[in-house]
Amino acid sequence: MSSAAGQSALPGRGPGQVYEYDTLAARNSRLMPGDRLTVKIRRFDRSEGGAAYQEFSVPYRKWMRVLDVLNFIAEQDAPDLAYRWFCGSKMCGTCAIRMNGREVLACWEAVEPSMTIEPLRNLPVIRDLVVDRTPYENKVAALEPWIERTTPYPQFPEPLNHKQMKDASKALDCISCMCCYSACPVIGLGDLTNFAGPAPLVQLGQSALDPRNDPEKIKRSLAATGIFNCISCYKCEESCPASIPIVSRIIEPLKAKAALLVPEMAKHSLALRDIVAYRGRIDPTALILRVQGYRALSGLSRAIRLLLRGKINPFRTFLGIKTGAAPAASRLLGKDIHQK
Ligand code: SF4
Ligand code: SF4
Ligand code: FES
Repeated sequence: MSSAAGQSALPGRGPGQVYEYDTLAARNSRLMPGDRLTVKIRRFDRSEGGAAYQEFSVPYRKWMRVLDVLNFIAEQDAPDLAYRWFCGSKMCGTCAIRMNGREVLACWEAVEPSMTIEPLRNLPVIRDLVVDRTPYENKVAALEPWIERTTPYPQFPEPLNHKQMKDASKALDCISCMCCYSACPVIGLGDLTNFAGPAPLVQLGQSALDPRNDPEKIKRSLAATGIFNCISCYKCEESCPASIPIVSRIIEPLKAKAALLVPEMAKHSLALRDIVAYRGRIDPTALILRVQGYRALSGLSRAIRLLLRGKINPFRTFLGIKTGAAPAASRLLGKDIHQK
């Protein structure tokens, strides 16, 4: 009830983009037909090997979207401009780009007086605003996002209720636009992690959060996700044009399943939870020892530097000192501190 009321006060998309003045009508009202828009487009051709920004001046038309600007430039000034679109109505996800540092759908986003338009991040650029989706498609295929039933198909319609499908059904709204993938800072780290990324996890969520799927199948898929590399920063959720609650309804439920089905993946998270429940605080020394064991000694010089900077306090760790928040933390996290 309260959330519905909140949404009516702030219609639109995720945090940071959900304001009355951020609607198409409100943003267009800042411009008059005929006003000049300054548009800088990052142009790149892999075969030419160079990237540079090219500036265009485009006359504003009423209700103009970023896609209209790109179409105008392609028709009038730069017929070789490469960009993608298909449905023109927020359905196919092919027109995603970055505008003034935000991931948006060109066919849905209102123009700004001054715009810098770039291709999505974290995917190879083929030319101008067109990115190569192969890394995403390969990741999705590797996760095998389909259902393997443990019981035969019973009847039509299947006896499923809304509660059973509440998370999977959110994932089914995905239009594979890659905005979340571009916004994710962990994907931006490249090969430093084996994280599949938000968009592939949403694809996996469609089947892994479906109660008909075989837990053994889900376990195999989750083991390939590197899901605990996600730092829950919500950048993906903020950028999703389909308003999918990516973190709270897809990634967190998948993490919970992974902790249950593949506990070795969740070693760091489970240790952190235990430590906070027991001590009422994050204790970096205890966390390192729990996760790395004796291997932690190999980083002795780093540990000494952290000690000198006051970042860790091994004495508090070894004396098992708790804060006053420990009983509440234990209660909230479902742990009995007296058992530790
Ligand atoms: S919440 Fe996780 S998946 Fe989403 S952007 Fe942050 S790190 Fe990436
Ligand atoms: S989850 Fe949202 S942002 Fe990510 S690919 Fe799907 S629709 Fe796009
Ligand atoms: S063109 Fe299909 S979503 Fe924009």
